[in-house]
Amino acid sequence: MSAKNTAVRYGTVAMTLHWLIALLIIGNLCSGIFLANIMDDDNPLHFTFIQMHKSIGLTVLMLSVLRLLWRLVNPVPPLPPGMSLPLRIAARGTHYLFYFLIIAIPLSGWAWASSSTTGIPTFYFGLFQWPNIPFLADLPHGAKIANSHMFHGYHVYLAYSTAVLLVLHVGAALYHHYQRRDEVLKRMWPGARVEGRTS
Ligand code: HEM
Ligand code: HEM
Repeated sequence: MSAKNTAVRYGTVAMTLHWLIALLIIGNLCSGIFLANIMDDDNPLHFTFIQMHKSIGLTVLMLSVLRLLWRLVNPVPPLPPGMSLPLRIAARGTHYLFYFLIIAIPLSGWAWASSSTTGIPTFYFGLFQWPNIPFLADLPHGAKIANSHMFHGYHVYLAYSTAVLLVLHVGAALYHHYQRRDEVLKRMWPGARVEGRTS
């Protein structure tokens, strides 16, 4: 299987980035909901869990930038020609929205942590201290409170929007596979044989 995308399927680089980022995002949606709504703030494991959540989120940010760059230099296989115009717009629209979200969610989390007045640092997987965004970290106390409130709101809104989009995206993939019986799911599936059928 080629590292680059071909005319009929995604290559190993795009597939690895897609599935790795998907796994990390789903993990962080679960850990974020758990931390914010289930785990007590005074639980001794709370700090460690938040640090893991932040580290995984920042990893998603770096992988997503890589993924976007890779997409820009490596064209994706065209959608099957049998798809109607509204379906094509929905498919590409979802994908572009996802590219925005996988960068915007971790950025909003980082901006939130950077403007927090608690001063709790972020340790990237316990290896080194991840820097705060300088402009936000240097704001006066009052402005920090306002910003932290705002970025918290963005973070929650973006994360839950991703969860909704994910349900639509998985539904669409299953619809292609089981209803339309085309090769859209297969061409993103590692090891699957793709024949290049047109619908
Ligand atoms: C893949 C990226 C990420 C996803 C999907 C994600 C998702 C979430 C979700 C769903 C919540 C719960 C929101 C709520 O119900 O109130 C949350 C909370 C939080 N996130 Fe993220 N997040 C990501 C990245 C980040 C990053 C990069 C940071 C900081 C560097 C961060 C910091 C936080 C913090 C501090 C909380 C609050 C936890 C608590 O209330 O104890 N997140 N996140
Ligand atoms: C939060 C998790 C996920 C994100 C952020 C995500 C994001 C994306 C993006 C941006 C693309 C477009 C790739 C491109 O053309 O550049 C894509 C394609 C695709 N995704 Fe996901 N995805 C996620 C989870 C899933 C899951 C769980 C499935 C399994 C059913 C899936 C199945 C697919 C398929 C089959 C394609 C190829 C569509 C095509 O050929 O045009 N994705 N995904």
